[in-house]
Amino acid sequence: MKTPLLASAVILGLFGSFAAVPPPAPFPVPVPYHAFCRSLWLFAAPCAEISTTIAKQIQAFSPEYMLVSATPLEIKANHTSPDGINAQNITFSFSVTTLTSGCRVSAQSISLGFTSLLDDGLNYCNLYKLLSASGLSSAPGFLELTNEWACLGYGMAKCKV
Ligand SMILES: *[C@@H]1O[C@H](CO)[C@@H](O)[C@H](O)[C@H]1NC(C)=O
Ligand SMILES: *[C@@H]1O[C@H](CO)[C@@H](O)[C@H](O)[C@H]1NC(C)=O
Repeated sequence: MKTPLLASAVILGLFGSFAAVPPPAPFPVPVPYHAFCRSLWLFAAPCAEISTTIAKQIQAFSPEYMLVSATPLEIKANHTSPDGINAQNITFSFSVTTLTSGCRVSAQSISLGFTSLLDDGLNYCNLYKLLSASGLSSAPGFLELTNEWACLGYGMAKCKV
């Protein structure tokens, strides 16, 4: 008989405190929220080669993708969804890997509008479409490092075949 009493005391305590102070947000998510995907790509090829390939692919996908700026260290672009309503900023940062003469690419796509926590893999697909169409996803030494926390919708992204 002790357990139900304890449980109801805990529940009462919870509701009591809920009544006194507003309940906390369920997740520590900044509001308003911009959905995003961050991914790390490794290649066994020089960064100059990788960045040129990515920039060319962005231009080939115009006007869906638009190149904003390109330097040897960083490419900025944006993507507008076919509905014309949603736009995302895309950034690639390039750095040479220390052990081999490879390239490490930090890729990010972020929704400009305020979206829900589920973007259906949109931001991941923005990055992945460039990777796959340019052939970089089958380039020597290619490795992708990301997960659900860094890249919303990664686990269910439809564009990944
Ligand atoms: C995307 O970038 C292009 C080129 O800089 C710019 O003209 C366009 O307004 C940008 N679109 C969005 C939605 O930011
Ligand atoms: C998107 O990119 C534009 C142009 O580079 C920049 O002015 C704007 O602050 C970016 N927005 C976000 C949310 O990153």
